[in-house]
Amino acid sequence: MKGARKGARRARRTLHVVVTAGPTLEYIDPVRYLANASSGRMGFAIAAAAVRAGHRVTLVTGPVCLATPKGVERIDVVSARDMLAALRRVFPGADALYMAAAVSDWRPRRRLAGKWRRKDGGDETATLELVRNPDVLATVARRKGGRLVVGFALETGDGIRRAKAKLQRKNADFVVLNDATALNATSGTVTILGSDGRIDRLESLEKPAIARILVGLLGRT
Ligand code: CTP
Repeated sequence: MKGARKGARRARRTLHVVVTAGPTLEYIDPVRYLANASSGRMGFAIAAAAVRAGHRVTLVTGPVCLATPKGVERIDVVSARDMLAALRRVFPGADALYMAAAVSDWRPRRRLAGKWRRKDGGDETATLELVRNPDVLATVARRKGGRLVVGFALETGDGIRRAKAKLQRKNADFVVLNDATALNATSGTVTILGSDGRIDRLESLEKPAIARILVGLLGRT
């Protein structure tokens, strides 16, 4: 019985899994930026779990203070547009994408070459003009073919309804719904919504345990 289980494990196909993690930074000047809060822990945990499951993993990450899991190929990026460029290179040759990065929706219209000085603003208020960043996930998932695409959603209000809308809008197979308590935390409660209508809630689990379950989605498509 044990031998048969081992055989079944060996027979499982090695896939190329792309994972994104961390924030993107959108620089205003050489020292200031806009970003979303993100430790990168969820994406790094998925990358580690996917390697342990025997897959080839490329991790595209914004700036974070985490060590690269053993066996993972890491591509460092800074902005949302850098992340999109990296995914345009690696996604076509991949079998799956886990988009755990906290991509900044906006970037400053201009990046100043020198520091933004007090004298450049008004006395008490200043205005920063922002332009919308590309939706990285929606852009690459548009032509996903048979690839598995897993998006993430961090919601503060009616989470399930919003996450369902994101599933469709971003052409994802699954969306993993978090609330703000997940930020910088080592554990959390997440809800996995499938494009087939299935909804699974994972109550108070450590991120590595959540990551193992998410990597298990590779077998469900
Ligand atoms: N995402 C992306 N590119 C963006 C914004 C988000 O690829 N410019 C991805 C995230 O990595 C995540 C998913 O889309 O996998 C949902 O991100 P979220 O910030 O919840 O959604 P938004 O599209 O930004 O919608 P909103 O902020 O209005 O909730």
